[in-house]
Formats: sequence, structure tokens, C-alpha cells
Amino acid sequence: MLDPSDFIKESIEGIKKQIGDEKAIIALSGGVDSSVASVLVSEAIGDNLLAVFVDHGLLREGEAEYVKETFEPRLNFDCIDASDEFLKELEGVEDPEEKRKIIGEVFIKVFEREAEKEGAKFLVQGTIAPDWIESEGKIKSHHNVALPHGLVLELVEPIRELYKDEVRVVGSEMGLPDEIVNRQPFPGPGLAVRVVGKLTPEKIEICRKANAIVEEEVKKEGLDETLWQYFAVLTDTKVTGVKGDIRDFGYLVVLRMVESWDAMTANVPELPWEMIRTISARITAEVSEVTHVALSVSDKPPSTIEFA
Ligand code: XMP
Repeated sequence: MLDPSDFIKESIEGIKKQIGDEKAIIALSGGVDSSVASVLVSEAIGDNLLAVFVDHGLLREGEAEYVKETFEPRLNFDCIDASDEFLKELEGVEDPEEKRKIIGEVFIKVFEREAEKEGAKFLVQGTIAPDWIESEGKIKSHHNVALPHGLVLELVEPIRELYKDEVRVVGSEMGLPDEIVNRQPFPGPGLAVRVVGKLTPEKIEICRKANAIVEEEVKKEGLDETLWQYFAVLTDTKVTGVKGDIRDFGYLVVLRMVESWDAMTANVPELPWEMIRTISARITAEVSEVTHVALSVSDKPPSTIEFA
């Protein structure tokens, strides 16, 4: 079993040796992996690490503010609002894989711009063991990555040997708040994979509001400690409802709540019925564009965790 303080000491020494007096950059998402990687490297090289948080306009409610409040006092931190750039490129795109591809490309473009401005020579990544074991099957550290516009950076992967539970232990030991350490995974493309069909600022906002209600009620019930992921999906389906005395034609939102170890498989556990009913009632009352809430009961496989 990993001794977190030994790991931290050795890792800081290794990072100092690898980076020396050069500058490094990391894309900090606020997820546990990139957060732990950021604080480890910043312990080693201080402000020579720039942690860049890219707001792609597809974040959850309050997310950018929370990440900023948490890391600005602790790191050389920069929040880039690139939402217009992302949403412009995503306009009219329906296919989920196409959305992912565009988001990935714009993300790298924005990030490369920052890395160039900073004069970074090293790219820090929060890669963990399951990320490479299956794809590569062998340890390959200290390699370079070439970004699309030609910038070549040497990779630093300080938590490459760790599994998620170990990353959480190291994060706690380094004083990261529980909210970060125990956070549910949130996909890089954000709400783009939870808004089915074409993305519009209006649909993203509906999904964001419904999702905030799900998160709030799940936390109230204490289920955030046992569920792997819990969120709202905005489908592209519109259904009839009644609001007051008037017939209304609004969106169908799906609640997705799963248990899992590693996201390879997942199951939908029994959920407290009162909580589900409260979430449904709140979403239809507080998000005026939604007329119907459904609960997903499909495991993975055959379904995936995300909807798009
Ligand atoms: P699926 O939907 O494939 O998701 O069952 C498995 C896990 O991966 C997350 N996920 C993503 N994460 N970029 C990410 O960074 C993506 O494009 C992406 N798609 C899915 C998902 O949230 C779940 O934890």
C-alpha cells in the first residue's frame, strides 16, 4: 500500500530533477487527477508551473468560480474563458464523436496559445495507471508531445503509477478539499455529451440548471459518497405537458445515476424514490423549458454512462 508522504517527497524530488529551472504548464480541470498533479508539480517548482483552466462554456453551474476560488490562492493559475470560440465551432453539430473531436481540437489550440505565451518547455498531465495500462501495456515516461502548431513539450506525469483511490489519498495528504478529492468524474467535453443533438446556449443552460438540481438533491441524501456519477441529460425530444391550465410542449430530461469502480461497467442501484420524485418535481417547476423527467435504469453494458 502506498505511503502518501513518501510518495509526495519522492515525487517532488523527481519533478525538480526533470524540470529544473524551466517552465511547465498543465490543463487543470478541477478533477481530482489534474488537481493532484498540479499541486505536486507546484510544490516542486512553484510559479514556474502555470495551471490553465479552460472554460469551454460547457461546464456545470458554479464550476469555473469554484475551481478559481480553490486554486487561485494556491497556484500560478489562469482561467481562460474561451466559450465563444468553442460554441462557434460546435454550431449545428449533432454527432457526439464530431462534438468530441471539435472540442479536443479547439482545446489544444487554446492551450497551445497559452503554452507559447508562457514559454513552457514541459507539459504536466494527470495521467493515472488505468489511462495507459490497457492502451500501451508498458511504462513509457519522459517522452515528448508535439502540439498541432509545432510546439514540442516534454511530458511530466507525476501520478502515472497511481490508481484513483491512491490519487485521492495523495490529494487529501496535500490538503486539497474533500470536494475536489471525492468529486464525481466529469467528462472533458462537459455538457456537450449530456445535451443530445445540436448545442445551443439555451439547451446548455437547461441541462446545467437541471443538473444543478440533481447534484444538490443527491448530496442532500448523502448519495454523492456512493454513486460513481449522477447527472441530468437533456434529450432532443420534446413532449407535451401541462403547466397551470395550459398545455405545454417542453423538453424531456433523463436522470442518470450509476455505481461503478472504473467506468468500464456500471449499474443503476436502487434509488430513494422520494429523492427521485423531489428531483423531478423541482426540475419541472424550476426549469420552465422542461415538461417531463425520466429515470434511466440501464446498466453499462449495454448502455454507456453518458448519453451522447
Ligand atoms: P461512457 O459514456 O463511455 O463513459 O460509459 C465512461 C466514463 O468516461 C467518461 N467520458 C468521457 N470523459 N471525455 C472524457 O474526458 C469524453 O469524451 C468522455 N466520454 C465519456 C464518462 O463520464 C464516464 O466516467
